[in-house]
Amino acid sequence: MADTTEPTRRDFIHIASGAASVVGVGFFAWPLIDQMNPSADTMALATIELDISNIEEGQQVVAKWQGKPVFIRYRTPAEIAAADAVDVASLRDKQTDDERLIPGPDGKLKPQYLVAIGVCTHLGCVPLFDPNDEKGGEYRGWFCPCHGSHYDNSGRIRKGPAPKNLEIPPYWYITDTVLEIGKEAVV
Ligand code: FES
Repeated sequence: MADTTEPTRRDFIHIASGAASVVGVGFFAWPLIDQMNPSADTMALATIELDISNIEEGQQVVAKWQGKPVFIRYRTPAEIAAADAVDVASLRDKQTDDERLIPGPDGKLKPQYLVAIGVCTHLGCVPLFDPNDEKGGEYRGWFCPCHGSHYDNSGRIRKGPAPKNLEIPPYWYITDTVLEIGKEAVV
């Protein structure tokens, strides 16, 4: 008999595609990596494994981890350069872009992937992603429409009431394109 109390990670990761993947009314049409009708047991699962090989440059997917959205954004070279060029001293929550990244299996940072918990650090709304339009905020990162917080593409707060950068979850690269969220690499 199947053990229903401990679903495997693969069981509850559903990689959706196409029209069924839109999240939220009026939100940008994100591809969605989601769990389907999670049980309480699943919600409590500590880690999720994600294959991110299908994300295209300039695109974002949203996973759910412990009931929270997690943004996985594949940044363009121009976006990475813009994030690197920011004067950290000018930031409210001072972090370099590199400090918000982790290395891949080869030990080098993977600046193309920005992984952040998609919960505004003001009062918890889910910020909007639209890198090509002001709906994504003045810094073309994310914009929280609840009270007007603007984040850059590194998830750093740049304008508005949010006090902190978007939180980076614990995660590590199992391979170049497979992440495990909820656990850090053992080094
Ligand atoms: S909850 Fe995001 S700005 Fe208030």
